[in-house]
Amino acid sequence: MTASRCVCPGSFDPVTNGHVDVIRRAGGLFDEVVVAVLTNPSKKPMFSLETRLEMLTEALGDVSDVFVVAVKGGLLVDFCREVGAVSVVKGLRSGTDFAYELPMALMNRHLTGLETIFLPGEPRYEHVSSSLIKEVATHGGDVSGLVPDGVLARLLERVGPVRHTETEETL
Ligand code: PNS
Repeated sequence: MTASRCVCPGSFDPVTNGHVDVIRRAGGLFDEVVVAVLTNPSKKPMFSLETRLEMLTEALGDVSDVFVVAVKGGLLVDFCREVGAVSVVKGLRSGTDFAYELPMALMNRHLTGLETIFLPGEPRYEHVSSSLIKEVATHGGDVSGLVPDGVLARLLERVGPVRHTETEETL
């Protein structure tokens, strides 16, 4: 019997705990999950493709049947066909995510019939996006608990330590 396989695509710059949750849950629906790391031309990445791959591989080290792969160009539908994936799986945090994802899902289906499955994001991570993580960390905010440990370490290497913000009580 052929293994059922899905692709979880994204820039993962960097991977967040929200991404990890969706990838793990995709693993419960399919025999194998291919995490496709792409470079989105509309975004300037903070981390190189190699570092993004490393962070994902570390974060998913304990999950079996998950493969992290770099996609260095071309259409996602072609990659899915090459790896024999029957579906794309993506997480949705909000209606804004849906508005962003829906045209891509429809275009992918138009191109090759590739279906997209949307999983509702874990509410604990509803406010967590790669771009907000980078912004908060860059300004010295604490993003621990929102990203895997290896991501936190690399962010701190890059932007310096957390600067503790004074709360109203301490002012
Ligand atoms: O994490 P992101 O940046 O939102 O992911 C978007 C990504 C990389 C999955 C999307 O831009 C993509 O699929 N790029 C590959 C090229 C492609 O197939 N473009 C047409 C999409 S309908």
